[in-house]
Parts: sequence; structure tokens; C-alpha cells
Amino acid sequence: MADITSATTDGGGSDLREPVTPREPVDPRTGPQTAVPVLERFRMDGRVVVITGASSGLGAGFARALSSAGATVVLAARRKERLEALAEELRSRGGTASTVACDVADPESCAAMVRAAMEEHGRVDVLVNNAGLGTAVPALKESPEQFRSVVDVNLNGAFWAAKECAAVMGPGSSIVNVASVLGLTAGFAPQAAYSATKAAVMGLTRDLASQWGSRRGIRVNSLAPGYFASEMTDEIPEQMLADITGSTIFGRLGVQAELDAALLFLASDAASFVTGTTLVVDGGMTLH
Ligand SMILES: NC(=O)c1ccc[n+]([C@@H]2O[C@H](COP(=O)([O-])OP(=O)(O)OC[C@H]3O[C@@H](n4cnc5c(N)ncnc54)[C@H](OP(=O)(O)O)[C@@H]3O)[C@@H](O)[C@H]2O)c1
Repeated sequence: MADITSATTDGGGSDLREPVTPREPVDPRTGPQTAVPVLERFRMDGRVVVITGASSGLGAGFARALSSAGATVVLAARRKERLEALAEELRSRGGTASTVACDVADPESCAAMVRAAMEEHGRVDVLVNNAGLGTAVPALKESPEQFRSVVDVNLNGAFWAAKECAAVMGPGSSIVNVASVLGLTAGFAPQAAYSATKAAVMGLTRDLASQWGSRRGIRVNSLAPGYFASEMTDEIPEQMLADITGSTIFGRLGVQAELDAALLFLASDAASFVTGTTLVVDGGMTLH
């Protein structure tokens, strides 16, 4: 499994493609004003993307994918040294990246993250609300501190970050909240706090899409991944992993590149008429 966990949209190591001339984002209230070839509608050149939880896992993969699509990426998480290493990797491949230490559970830290992005790059076009954590504790044994810590990051943190970004975003900007299939269906481990927050993120998405769509021209969507190969899934007991893969139509876990493509769609002008929705990328797990 190790070889597929490192697979990314750009093959995990190739150079950036030839940049295209940056365009202002499409204001969803007016729609596209010029004819742009369909593949170019996915380009992120000139766009500044803030990615929370970029220090590992899916968030680091999203940063690589968005950078390879031309975006300037602002990498945020608590472990600054990991962010620095990733930023260096992206720069060495021709990308533009900066880092900012942020604890999304702290509203002031989210405000500082957005201030840093504005000072460094002058705009924020996309927020990928990816920071997240989960506990796998039987409900009767879950302490208030454990439950609250998950709510604080997965739900409250997503709101603080969205609110700070929306305050500086222009029309055509996009917020992508990373939810989970566990917001839609039961999982394979006891995860009350996690499942509750991921369902809540979808509700938050609908409301913010409605508040900020017509008023500010900002699109807000959720991405709901199924199970993706990662260091975390490497640790899942064999039988549970078999149950998980068996619950998909394709009998396997997803790989990062498959999620990158869905994220890029929601983040880019390709989705200029898409808001308030949840894009499920789960190999059919939630069909049953
Ligand atoms: N992997 C999957 O199969 C899967 C499936 C469905 C949904 N998801 C969702 O995808 C997102 C990423 O998960 P992952 O699998 O990539 O897990 P991961 O490798 O554990 O990454 C989680 C990220 O969140 C950051 N984070 C945690 N608490 C934070 C805080 N208080 N402030 C700022 N950043 C914080 C971590 O960075 P620091 O520790 O450096 O702060 C880390 O970068 C999560 O929202 C998760 O729920 C994942």
C-alpha cells in the first residue's frame, strides 16, 4: 500500500506545468463572461489558497495538487516545521508557498492566519478547511474533553477559518469544507464526536453558501471523502480494513489523486455554478 499512498495528481514529483495567464475568478452571480477552454477553467494560476491541516495526510496532498495547478498556497497547521518542509518542496518545483502556524480551534489564531496570508500575498481566493481530528472511543467512555476537542477543531475551527477568510474574499472565491462519509453513514469504529461534526460541517456548508452566495459571490461546498490510503489507514486492523474496502463498490480504498481532482473542481472556476453541496468521493460506499 505504501506506493499508492504517495500518489498525487501530479505524479508526486513532476515539475509544474507551463503556467497560464491568471484570470480573475468567475463571479458565480454573473457566470463566465468569456469563453475559456474547459481544462483552463480548472487552472489556479494567480489564486491564493489557504489550506488548513496542511502538515500531513490529505492536506499536504491537496497543497501539492493545487500548487501543481498553479495556485499560490498558504500552508497552515500547528506543526510549523512540517509546513516549512512542504513549502520548500513546492518551491523547489517552481511553486509559490508560505507557511503559518495556526490552531484552528482558536478564533484569534484563525484571524492571524488570514492576516498573514493577506500581508504576504494580498488576497485569499480559496479556503480548504481540511484540519481535522477524530477519536475512536466507545460513547459511554468518551470524556467531555475528548468530545469537545473534536468539535472544537472539526466544526468550530472550520467556522472560525471560514469567517475570517470570507471577510477578505472577493467574488468568485470558494470555500471547501472537508467533511467525511461518516457525516452521512455509520462507520466501522465508535466515532460519535467525529461523525457528529462531519454531519454538522455539511449543515454549516449549506448555511454559509446561502449567506455568502448572493451577497458576496462566494461559493461554499463540502467534500466528503470515504476511506483513503494513508498512514492512518495503515494502522487499521486487517478485518476492519477488509470490511471497509468490502463496503465500496470497487473493493478498495481511495487514493489521494482521486480526491485531489474533486477538490480542484470545487475550488476552481470549473464549479462556478456549484454551491452548498457535498461532493461524495467514496467509491460507492454510501450507496447502500
Ligand atoms: N484520511 C481519510 O481517509 C479521511 C476520510 C474522510 C475525511 N477525512 C478528513 O480529512 C481531513 C484530513 O485528514 P487526514 O486523514 O489527512 O488526517 P491527518 O494526517 O491526521 O491530518 C490532520 C491535519 O489536521 C491538522 N490539525 C489537527 N488539529 C489542528 C488544529 N487544532 N489546528 C490546526 N490544524 C490541526 C494536523 O496538523 P497539526 O497536527 O500540525 O496541527 C494535520 O495536518 C480531516 O478533516 C479528516 O477528518 C479524512
